[in-house]
Amino acid sequence: MPLHIVSHPLVHDALALLRDKQTPADTFRRVATRISVLLAAEALRDVPTATSTVVTPLGPAEARRVASDVVVVPVLRAGLGMLDAVLDLVPTARVGYIGLQRDEQTAIASRYYSKLPQGLIDSYVLMIDPMLATGGSASAALDLLRQAGASRVRIVCIVAAPEGVAVVERDHPDVAIYTPVVDSHLNAQKYIVPGLGDFGDRLYGTV
Ligand code: PRP
Ligand code: URA
Repeated sequence: MPLHIVSHPLVHDALALLRDKQTPADTFRRVATRISVLLAAEALRDVPTATSTVVTPLGPAEARRVASDVVVVPVLRAGLGMLDAVLDLVPTARVGYIGLQRDEQTAIASRYYSKLPQGLIDSYVLMIDPMLATGGSASAALDLLRQAGASRVRIVCIVAAPEGVAVVERDHPDVAIYTPVVDSHLNAQKYIVPGLGDFGDRLYGTV
C-alpha cells in the first residue's frame, strides 16, 4: 500500500506553525484542526458517493452524497486533536477510541482503553494519530482494528518517521499512510527529529 505524501501548500503552511516551538497551545489546537481537515479530505478522496437530485432555488441539480460508512478512530490522547476536523468533514461518521501510552523509558506503547463500533467490514476507517514515530502505537492500534473486523483502514498522521513507516508497512502492508512529511530520524528517546516535540503535551499544555 502506498505512502501518500500530502504536499498541498496549505498543509505545509499549517505544519510550519505546528513545528514552531513558539506556537502556544491555543494556536496549536486550532492549527491541528486546520491541517487535519486537509489531510482527512485527502485520505477520503475515494470514498464512494451516491448520485441524487437536490432542488436549488433555480431548479434541480445533480448531487453526490457520501454513501459509505466512515469510521474515525483517534488514538488517545493526541489523536483527539484531529477528531473535530474529521467530524466537521463527515458529520455522520462513527467514532471509535483506542487509548495507548508510550512508556517514557522504553517508548513501548501499552493499551489502556479501546471502544470500537461494530460492523467495520465495509467501513472506511480513518485511524488518526498525529505522530508516527517507532510505529509501535500504530501497529498495536491497527491490530485492534483488524481484530474488530476492519478491512479498509488508512492512517492519517501529521509527522512520520522512516522507522514508523517501515513498521506499518511490515506489519500492515494493506494500510495506506497519509502524511505531509517523513522526517529524518528518531532520537535516543524515540522522538521524531526534527518533528514538533510531544504533540499531546503541546496540544494540552502539559509540557
Ligand atoms: C504519541 C503519539 C503516538 C505515539 C507515537 O503518543 O500520539 O500515539 O506517541 O509513537 P510511536 O510511533 O513510537 O508509538 P503518547 O504515547 O506520547 O501518548 P499521548 O498521546 O497520550 O501523549
Ligand atoms: N510522540 C510525539 O508526540 N512526538 C514524537 O516525536 C514521538 C512520539
